[in-house]
Amino acid sequence: MAYISNEVINEIRNKTDIVDVVSKYVSLTKKGKNYIGVCPFHDDHSPSMSVSPEKQIFTCFSCGASGNVFSFVSDFEKIPFIEAVKLLGEKVGISVSGTTKIETKKDDYLEIYELANKFYQNSLFTSLGKNAISYLEERKIDKSTIKKFGIGLSIQKISLTDYLVNKKYTIDKLIEVGLTNDSGNDIFVNRIMFPIYDLSGNPIAFSGRIYNTRDTSKYINTKETDKFKKGKILYNYHLAKEHLKKNDTVIIMEGQMDVIRASTIGIDNCIATMGTALTKEHRSIIKNMTNNVVLCFDGDGAGEKATVSAIDLLEDAGVNIKVVRLPNNMDPDEYILKEGKDSFVSQIDKAMSLIDYKMELLKKDKNLTDVKDISSYINSAVRALTSVDDDIVVELNLKKMATSFNVDYETILNKYKELTKKKRLPVRKEVKQKKTYDRYRKAENNLIYYMLKDSTVINMVDKRIGYFPTQNIRDLSNEIIYYFHKYGIINVADFISYISFSEELSNTLREILAMDIKEDFQIREIEDYIFVIMEYHKKKRIEDMTKKMKEEKDPLKQAKILEEIMEIRGVKKNDTRD
Ligand code: GTP
Ligand code: MN
Repeated sequence: MAYISNEVINEIRNKTDIVDVVSKYVSLTKKGKNYIGVCPFHDDHSPSMSVSPEKQIFTCFSCGASGNVFSFVSDFEKIPFIEAVKLLGEKVGISVSGTTKIETKKDDYLEIYELANKFYQNSLFTSLGKNAISYLEERKIDKSTIKKFGIGLSIQKISLTDYLVNKKYTIDKLIEVGLTNDSGNDIFVNRIMFPIYDLSGNPIAFSGRIYNTRDTSKYINTKETDKFKKGKILYNYHLAKEHLKKNDTVIIMEGQMDVIRASTIGIDNCIATMGTALTKEHRSIIKNMTNNVVLCFDGDGAGEKATVSAIDLLEDAGVNIKVVRLPNNMDPDEYILKEGKDSFVSQIDKAMSLIDYKMELLKKDKNLTDVKDISSYINSAVRALTSVDDDIVVELNLKKMATSFNVDYETILNKYKELTKKKRLPVRKEVKQKKTYDRYRKAENNLIYYMLKDSTVINMVDKRIGYFPTQNIRDLSNEIIYYFHKYGIINVADFISYISFSEELSNTLREILAMDIKEDFQIREIEDYIFVIMEYHKKKRIEDMTKKMKEEKDPLKQAKILEEIMEIRGVKKNDTRD
C-alpha cells in the first residue's frame, strides 16, 4: 500500500480554493468576509452554509456539516476522503495514483497488530499448521483465498506473546490490545485466525475459529478495545469498498466465512456484521459506501430476525434495500458450496424488493384460506404499501391482492386511500437539534477551537492541562499537539485532512467547527477555560475522595482523607495537575 503524506495533501489543498470548488456545486454569494449558500447536506430553505476563504473551510450552522475542501467534495460526491484528495489533486496537477492511505502517526497498537497478523499467517504454513491447512482445504479455501483474507493460525506451542515481548512490547500493552490474558498467555490458542481490518485496512482485531478441538465457543473475537468496536466495524469493508466502483451495491452477510466464500466465486462486494446486530454507526459507514444494499443473512430464523431489524434501521435512512432469503436454513457459504456459483448469482440478481419481502413476511404464520387471516393479512399489507412512493408498485400490489383473495379491487383501494389520508402529513427532513453543553465541555470545545487558530493556545494547553475530561477531546488535543510539534505550524483546514483517518475524531471536530464560537479571543479567556478544566479535575478528585471516605471504616484514616479533601478545596488554583 502506498502512502500519501500530509505534506502532499496540504500542497493540493493550498493550490485549491474552497470557494471555487464549492461554487461549482452550490451557488454562493459574498457576505462580509465569507460566502454563503444553500447547504447541500440538509433540506435547507434559507442559505445557512458559510464558506470562509480565509480559513478555507465550510460550516453549516443549521445541520452542523463542516470541513475543508476535501470533506466537502467527499461528502457531496459520497466518495472517501482520500478519493477527494486524488480528484482535486488531478485538477492542480498533482497526481496521486494507485491505492493509497493517508500516512498517519505510527501507533503501537497498529504496529502490534501488523506483527501479530504476519505472525499468525506464517504459523499457518509451518509443520504445526498441517491440520489447519487440511481443515481449510476441506472447506474449499485455497491458498489464494488464505492470502487475500490474511487467514492465519494460532498455535499453542508458538507463543505470540513471547514473540511480541521480544519485540520490546510490554505485557501490559499486549493485555490492553487484547492479545494476551492476565496470566501473560496468548488469548488465541489453536484457532484459525481471521484478521479484522479497520475502515482504512489496518488489522485491529482477530476472530479465531476452532478447527480440531472442542470448545464452547466456535469463534472468539478480540475484546472491544480503543480501536476495535464491533458496532463500528464491518468485516471486509476495506476490500469491498474498492469493488463498489464497478458495482454500486453492497451485500451484507452475517459471517466472515460467507464473505470469504462469496469472494471465491468472484463476488467481492460483500461485508459481514460478524453476528452482531447492525448499529447506527454501521449504517453511516454503509451509507458512505453506497445507497444500495442487498441483505443476505442466513436462511434460518435468526437470519430472518436480523433481516427485519436491519430493514428497520436502514429503511428511513434512504437506503435502497433488497432482500435475499436463502432456503433450507442455509447460510451463503453453505448455499454456494451446495448449489454453485450460478445459482447464488441468480439469488442476488433476483433479490426481492423491500415491499415484496414485507408482503411475503406478513404472510408468515397466517392461514391464507381462513377468512379472518386473509382480512388481517390484507389490512397489514395495505398498511405496508402506504409507505411506498411508487404509485405503480402500489397499484400492482393492490390488484394482485384483489385477484389472489378474490376481493373487489375498489374495496382494497378504498382501504388504501383511507390509510394514506391519515398518514400523508408533510414530511420535512429534520434539522439536527443543537446540542447543549455544560460549562466543562464548553471550555473544552473553546480550547480546541482556539488551539487550531493560534499556537500560543496549543502551548498553553500542552503545558498546563494534564488531560481533558472528555475522551474525544483528549484525543483531539493530543493530535493537535502532535501535529504542531511535527510540522511546526497548524491551520484548521490542513488539520481536517490529517484527522480524516479517524471518523470519530473528525466528527467531534466537525461539531466544534459548527458551533457559534467567536473568532477572536483574549489570553485572559483562555486562562479562564483552563481554569474551568482544572476545576473539573478538582471536583472529580473531591468526589472520588468523598466516596473513599464514606467507605472507610477506620476513623483515623477517615480524618486523614478529610484533611486531604480540605486541602484540595483550599486555594491551590495553580497546582491541580496530577
Ligand atoms: P462457520 O461455522 O465457520 O461456517 O461460521 P458461520 O459464519 O456459519 O457462523 P455463524 O453463522 O454461526 O455465525 C455468524 C458469525 O457470528 C460468525 O462469522 C462469527 O463472526 C460470529 N460468531 C459465531 N459463533 C460465535 C461465537 O461462539 N462467539 C462469538 N463471539 N462470535 C461468534
Ligand atoms: Mn457457516
